[in-house]
Amino acid sequence: MARHLITSALPYINGIKHLGNMVGSMLPADVYSRYLRQRGHDVLYICATDEHGTPAELAAKEQGLPVDEFCASAHDAQKAVYDGFALAFDYFGRSSSQQNVEITQHFARKLNENGFIEERAIRQVYSPADGRFLPDRYVEGTCPHCGYDKARGDQCENCTRVLDPTDLIEPRSAISGSTDLEVRETKHLFLLQSKLQHEVEEWVARHEEEWPQLAASIARKWLNEGLHDRAITRDLDWGVPVPADTWPDLAAEGKVFYVWFDAPIEYIGATKEWADQDPENRDWKSWWYDADDTVRYTEFMAKDNVPFHTVMFPATELGVREPWKKVDYVKAFNWLTYYGGKFSTSQKRGVFTDQALDILPADYWRYFLIANAPESDDSSFTWEHFTATVNKDLADTLGNFVNRVLSFSKKRFGEAVPAGGEPGEAETRLGTEIATLLAEYEAQMEALQFRKAAAALRALWSAGNSYLEEKAPWLEIKTDKDGAALTLRTAMNLIHLYAVVSEPFIPGTAAAMRQAFSLEEDTATWITPDEARALTTVAAGTPFTVPPVLFAKLTDDDLDAYKERFGGEPQPA
Ligand code: 2FM
Ligand code: ZN
Repeated sequence: MARHLITSALPYINGIKHLGNMVGSMLPADVYSRYLRQRGHDVLYICATDEHGTPAELAAKEQGLPVDEFCASAHDAQKAVYDGFALAFDYFGRSSSQQNVEITQHFARKLNENGFIEERAIRQVYSPADGRFLPDRYVEGTCPHCGYDKARGDQCENCTRVLDPTDLIEPRSAISGSTDLEVRETKHLFLLQSKLQHEVEEWVARHEEEWPQLAASIARKWLNEGLHDRAITRDLDWGVPVPADTWPDLAAEGKVFYVWFDAPIEYIGATKEWADQDPENRDWKSWWYDADDTVRYTEFMAKDNVPFHTVMFPATELGVREPWKKVDYVKAFNWLTYYGGKFSTSQKRGVFTDQALDILPADYWRYFLIANAPESDDSSFTWEHFTATVNKDLADTLGNFVNRVLSFSKKRFGEAVPAGGEPGEAETRLGTEIATLLAEYEAQMEALQFRKAAAALRALWSAGNSYLEEKAPWLEIKTDKDGAALTLRTAMNLIHLYAVVSEPFIPGTAAAMRQAFSLEEDTATWITPDEARALTTVAAGTPFTVPPVLFAKLTDDDLDAYKERFGGEPQPA
């Protein structure tokens, strides 16, 4: 048994996320966590809302709420959707927690003591009309690179270039629209990442071979461009305050840390939030401090987050000069597109996670998204692909098998697993095939290759169908009742096996399949390939019930309705 720490990138507080966010961080982290728990490991899966920064302030303003109230309700709204997706976090925290404030301030003090923070005067956009400095997204204007006229002060959405608010042409305040802007001098804290370049390089070199190519290549690219010193404070009302004991002047001016400074620290903060709920039994520090030999840490994120997790946060952790746990494995994802175009929260294009659950239960989405995760390349969501996959894999291959076997057996043999004769040649062949496929499935899950794992799972479901077609118990029963009983008992053992091994992907359906059998022991624990070969977990005589149809078949009318509601046309990239 190993200790596995798992985190998925913290979703911004500013709105309900779309399916692209879900498939690139939280969902695969949940699938992996569930798998590891089933294999008997000690797993801690931590996530939280990322609540600071200009997006939070602007979203609150749009709703006319104080930022703290906005964040509290937006956190609950996101949590409700994640519960709906059956994401089994050990804890889903908030980066605005007191725990994160304390740990973030501790990190800043240590970085300062170690000579990695410096106070510098910089020139910043100031708006007399708003009576404040305008950091990041508070300024909008024309991008100096591509001419896009709605570029934000931190980044141009059109050409994706990272910007400084002072770069913008014809800048205006995003709060008041005022164009009467000045540039004033003000002091900020800078993290001297350039001094840490060498150490980060060494650290990356020790890990990158194990990382997937996507994560390693992005880390390399950033290191090759060189680590620059970065301002880690902002003039905002909402954020982790600069500690007054160390920087009295900046604290008096109300400066707070930049959102990307405190957000990754919240992985630790949220672990403390978790422990503080039951301090007698939970030890947050054992997961994070001096834990290199005892904990394996895996992070999940989309590719735009990779630089922060492979280079910048490790630089911070290294500069603190305390043994904080650094990531062992970075699982990065490409983009899920919507008909080849961008899913966009701000432009409301694509399918949002709350809308998805309005349409169909979580397992439909979980399976489709993971089976088509943008692992080696971007992948495109289309309603045609979604409905076809649901119908073929979930409704026909898995759902139909379960229902057919259980209904037929009930009709002919009653509500207990029939006995039948001894396993024959077909059962031996099936056992060998199942053992091979299960070993493949395990290997792909261990390697965090989710698409390949889904393919192996699908192959396990198909093997049951082939066996059933071959034995055809509905014909067999006419001449060999014992033989038909054996076939059905074997098929029911497959259903039970599917319940166990499908749990990481489709936990709700897995529970329904398992609960079809009245088993005394907790049989949710893993079945190894060798055990599976025998196909005897569910003994003759075990009572069972026929569950309601597991997956509804989606019709052409459904498809038309989805396309009508969400738009189903290709978008320019
Ligand atoms: O890109 C994002 O959605 C960020 N909110 C991710 C933060 S991850 C972590 F570092 F907190
Ligand atoms: Zn641009």
